[in-house]
Amino acid sequence: MNLFNKVMVFSVGLTLVFTLVANLLPQVEGEAPVEKQVDIASLTMDDFVAMGESLFANKGTCTLCHKPPPLGRAPDIEGVDMVAVSVKRLADPRYQGGATDAAGYILESMVDPGNFVVAGWGKKGSNDTESPMPAIDKAPIQLSAMEMDAIIAWLQAKDGNEVTVSLPSPEAAAQVADASGAESGSAPMAAATAEEALTKYACTGCHSLDSNEALVGPGLLNVGGRMTPEQIRQSIVDPNAVLSEGFAAAMPTDFATKMTVSELELIVGRLAEKKQ
Ligand code: HEC
Ligand code: HEC
Repeated sequence: MNLFNKVMVFSVGLTLVFTLVANLLPQVEGEAPVEKQVDIASLTMDDFVAMGESLFANKGTCTLCHKPPPLGRAPDIEGVDMVAVSVKRLADPRYQGGATDAAGYILESMVDPGNFVVAGWGKKGSNDTESPMPAIDKAPIQLSAMEMDAIIAWLQAKDGNEVTVSLPSPEAAAQVADASGAESGSAPMAAATAEEALTKYACTGCHSLDSNEALVGPGLLNVGGRMTPEQIRQSIVDPNAVLSEGFAAAMPTDFATKMTVSELELIVGRLAEKKQ
């Protein structure tokens, strides 16, 4: 069973967090997610660590880049003891950041990736002064402080290190639920604009909207020029019916069951306008 299917459903505020995660999963057809009910009042560190593991593979989009070699486009942080690596980074003469411990370094890597660029992994031509990693607390990924803490907890725990981040308070969990604009326990609200919908369904994790550069899928700058609205609609609701040339069938196949009709039409309308 892979990580994508390890979905946990928390009650109260945390239910929402995991509903969102579940909605972003490129789930393998026929394998239903395993649901785990955990009450926020009894949330354990093990639950929090599991949440971090799920966020790393799913909503956080970390595994789009952080994969074992030769597939990875970033250091294989799952395959190393990130706490030991962080201690080395802090002692590196090139380190100019403000962190004083491993948890601080990992958090800084997420919110301010350019602060320390791992040698050999900087943007092309920047001589390792600029990072290609997006700020994780900003759109489109936009993890909350609580979600980033969960990832840190997992990175610490997976190699047997002491977990130094604290469990979220029920208030913090509820705030996350409120900020996402949904009633606790219910499905997330429908997106009101095409941009919101493209972010909500993580399209931008795999597609560049403002260039023709391929990420996991083709760049969509000119998609309205090469496809009719009907073809665009089909490529979202039934992505494997016609595969884009040169690409594998890697697009989630269950958007049709997750999107509202208005979300789908907002996206199709916006993509159809992309003609350059
Ligand atoms: C678009 C690709 C991309 C995504 C998505 C991405 N990263 Fe990164 N990340 C990188 C690259 C490239 C580096 C190395 C350059 C640097 O140090 O900034 C890096 C560096 C790091 C480091 C420092 C590693 C070290 O050895 O010091 C950490 C920690 C990290 N990322 C965590 C994450 C987490 C957690 C996520 C998901 C929430 C994530 N990254 C998402 C590309 C990415
Ligand atoms: C996990 C990565 C992934 C996600 C998430 C994803 N796609 Fe894709 N997409 C792909 C891949 C790979 C292809 C090419 C293979 C194919 O045709 O299915 C593709 C193809 C497409 C195409 C056809 C483009 C062309 O030039 O042929 C469109 C349009 C598209 N995706 C739109 C979307 C939209 C809208 C979303 C969000 C609702 C989305 N994709 C989410 C990976 C992804």
